[in-house]
Amino acid sequence: MIHLITSSDEETRELGAALAPLARVGDLLLVSGDLGAGKTVFAQGFARGLGVTEPVTSPTFTLVRTYPATIPLIHADLYRLERMQEVIDLGLNELLDHSAVALIEWGDVAAATFTSDYLLVRISLDPEAESTRLFQLGLVGPSWSARKVAMGRALAPWVVAS
Ligand SMILES: Nc1ncnc2c1ncn2[C@@H]1O[C@H](COP(=O)(O)OP(=O)(O)OP(=O)(O)O)[C@@H](O)[C@H]1O
Ligand SMILES: [Mg+2]
Repeated sequence: MIHLITSSDEETRELGAALAPLARVGDLLLVSGDLGAGKTVFAQGFARGLGVTEPVTSPTFTLVRTYPATIPLIHADLYRLERMQEVIDLGLNELLDHSAVALIEWGDVAAATFTSDYLLVRISLDPEAESTRLFQLGLVGPSWSARKVAMGRALAPWVVAS
């Protein structure tokens, strides 16, 4: 588990962007945290780091969007649980197998539905500081565990413990 802190939404975008160079085709990021925690802000930064040029918006109403980039980004939001089946119907697993990296907001609830290899990004608010966000990164499975050192290095500006 890697623990990080950011102090503004732009810092959270920078953190997301710094993580992107570690991403590979077929990767899955499950992002959890309360409403307004910063899941979409983090996704915007990650997308920026992948080279996505389109603006990344909350997928709350669109369910799933794909953004072209060197590695395309699939961005989904499973806030409503019934969407899990919709995502499965959309063939997310097949998409992942081929050519993209997927970032799923509220995806932790569906973790078991996906692969056994994923990066869990848990974002928490700080009750004492409005613009502070605490991040816990869980590297689940061999492909992510193998990237722990590289990740600690890439995210060094925000690491508080690992
Ligand atoms: N350090 C920070 N990191 C990220 N966002 C921050 C930070 N400080 C303040 N914010 C604000 O918190 C809000 C995060 O909103 P965002 O839409 O990313 O949340 P979310 O987790 O995706 O919520 P939802 O569950 O509704 O999808 C934004 O208004 C952003 O400006
Ligand atoms: Mg969101």
